[in-house]
Formats: sequence, C-alpha cells, structure tokens
Amino acid sequence: MRVLVSGGAGYIGSHTVIRLVEAGHDVVVVDDFSNAKPTVVGRLEALTGRPIPVHAIDLTDTDKTEHLFAHEQIDAVIHFAGFKAVGESVAKPLAYYQNNLDSTFSLLRAMDRHDVRTLVFSSSATVYGAEPELPMTEDLPTSATNPYGWTKVMIEQILSDVAASDDRWRIAALRYFNPVGAHASGDIGEDPSGIPNNLMPFVAQVAVGRREQLSVFGDDYDTVDGTGVRDYIHVDDLAAGHVAALDTVGSRAEPMSVWNLGTGQGVSVLQVIKAFERASGRPIPYEIAPRRAGDIAASYADPARANADLGWRATKTIDDMCADTWRWQSKNPNGYPDA
Ligand SMILES: NC(=O)c1ccc[n+]([C@@H]2O[C@H](COP(=O)([O-])OP(=O)(O)OC[C@H]3O[C@@H](n4cnc5c(N)ncnc54)[C@H](O)[C@@H]3O)[C@@H](O)[C@H]2O)c1
Repeated sequence: MRVLVSGGAGYIGSHTVIRLVEAGHDVVVVDDFSNAKPTVVGRLEALTGRPIPVHAIDLTDTDKTEHLFAHEQIDAVIHFAGFKAVGESVAKPLAYYQNNLDSTFSLLRAMDRHDVRTLVFSSSATVYGAEPELPMTEDLPTSATNPYGWTKVMIEQILSDVAASDDRWRIAALRYFNPVGAHASGDIGEDPSGIPNNLMPFVAQVAVGRREQLSVFGDDYDTVDGTGVRDYIHVDDLAAGHVAALDTVGSRAEPMSVWNLGTGQGVSVLQVIKAFERASGRPIPYEIAPRRAGDIAASYADPARANADLGWRATKTIDDMCADTWRWQSKNPNGYPDA
C-alpha cells in the first residue's frame, strides 16, 4: 500500500515509517514540523535507502490537505499528527482542541472525497481516565482528566460515528501505553523540545549530562516500591503494531476496531532508573518530590486483544528500551541537528 503518515517526522511516526518500508509499503509523510526537525527526513532516507516524499503542510489547512490528496495516490492513512503534551494542554486548551480535532476533520474529509477509507489513529491509554481497573481492557469506559486526553476521547467518538455511517470505512484506534526507546541504529529517537515531560527522555538527558538530576514524583503509592508504575513499550514494537493493524484492519468485519498496544507489564520509576544505570554505566542522581496532581499510581495494558487479532506482541524488555535510548542519546546528545 501507499501509506500517508501524518506526523511522520515525529517520534513514533518516524519509527513507523521505517517499519512500513521494511514491510514493503510505500510511504508519503505529511508534517508541519511544529514539533519535529526536518533533518529527521535525511536520517529516514539513509536508514531505509529510499527517498521519502514529504509534504510540509499544516493539516488543519483544508485546502492544502485537499491538494495533497488530489496530487498523491494514497491507499491508507496512519494519523499521528497532533499536539501531545498533557501539561501544555491544560494551559492552552483551545490550541489543543483546535489542532487535534481540526487536523482530523480535514484529513477525514479529504480521505472521503478521494475514496481513501482505511485509517489507523494514534490514541492513548489516557482515554481510560482517572481510576481505571487494572489491567486495562479495551471495553473499559472512556474518560479523560485533561484537554489532551479529551481530544483522544472525542476523536475516537468521531471515528466511530464516521465508521458507522458508511460501511466502506475501516478504522483502527490504537491505544498506546508508554512509548520509549529508539531505533537500534541510534540515528532516530525521541527529541523533545525544552524540558522533557516524560520520564525516559529526562533520565537519558541526566545520564548524558544535559540535566543535573531527576525528580521522582511520589514514593508513597501503593506499588512495588512506592513509585509510579507504567507499561513502557519499545517504540519499535509500537511501530510494528501499526504495520500489523494496517495489514489487518481492511479485512475486519466491523468498520471500527480498538486495540491496546502495551506489553502488559508494569515497571516502576525506580526500576527504570536502575535499568538505565545498567544500560549507560552512569549513575542517575534523583530526588523524591511530591506527587504530581493528576498522576495515577499504576497503569498497564491487557494486550490480549491485539495479540490475538493482530498476531502482534511486544517483544522488547525494559533493558532493551534503555539500551536503545542510551545509544540514541549518546550519539545525539543535543537531539537532531537544525540543518
Ligand atoms: N509519545 C507518547 O507518549 C504518546 C502516547 C500516546 C499517544 N501518543 C500519540 O501519538 C501521536 C504521535 O506522538 P509522538 O510522540 O510521535 O509526537 P510528536 O510530537 O513527536 O509527533 C507528532 C508530529 O505531528 C506533527 N504535527 C502536529 N500538528 C500537526 C498539524 N496540524 N499538521 C501537520 N503535522 C502536525 C508534529 O510536527 C510532529 O512531528 C500523537 O497523536 C500523540 O498524541 C503519543
């Protein structure tokens, strides 16, 4: 298939581009580079040995999106594009609702007009809300605790309504747990701008000397060692899950499918720190800080449905995730170059 990857220059999108090419698909990227550097494209071309066509447009621009579909032959879309920082979404709700919803509307309309009705969407475990039952199954009710999370809940609802309106649609919402790690080459990885919001890039920046120490938010949760527990999934396993979803969704009986992509294993903050110290051979200084508002004690997936329906499972361990993150971080201490 010729697959349009929206947000394909971003963290998860770039790793998925590589997996798609490896699986024999053609790829077209659309990204406005609001949260990515153009230099990622050259890295993707070097790793895949292929030119990667890129449209540098903002998907909320309906005319430009229409123009893209009028000039490219597209069979399916994987939709990663969107804003993703929880804290920023609380400060700038309108920017989040507008970017995440409008880009999806614009994409869905252009797809419909051009008879492209196969879509894989980046959702998130955040749709399980504040007090989910563990492990989380796809049948739990959805909810959110911040505007970012609500954009995912709302987009899933919109996709489900669109899928129900016309049986030619085949749509998958993939609910990711905590993507970490980097491509095994160390040439592609997560390159957050500013202070990282997530644990793994923060730990990596402490290890490489860009930040002094880590704050561990809360050590009195009801977990194995009192620190928060999450289901970390290697970004390359996640990328493989997208290829599996894309290859499966078209032959599903139902127009809308929802799959958790996680390992099913919970790992605590202190366990991540220890694993990163093993991978990097460097100490990770940390201090215990108060709990952060809105954080839950533990989150992990029941990945059984994706395992069964997609013939996919996460294979990489927390040690693999830390080793690959460290390779990326130590080869690229300041992330991607500007040019
Ligand atoms: N990283 C995570 O922890 C995580 C977890 C669950 C879900 N997700 C979702 O997965 C998707 C990808 O996440 P990521 O971590 O790769 O983020 P990312 O920011 O690295 O990638 C998103 C890309 O979309 C682009 N983009 C944003 N708005 C756009 C627009 N209007 N038009 C065109 N391009 C636009 C950005 O420039 C960026 O390259 C997002 O939808 C995110 O919400 C991420």
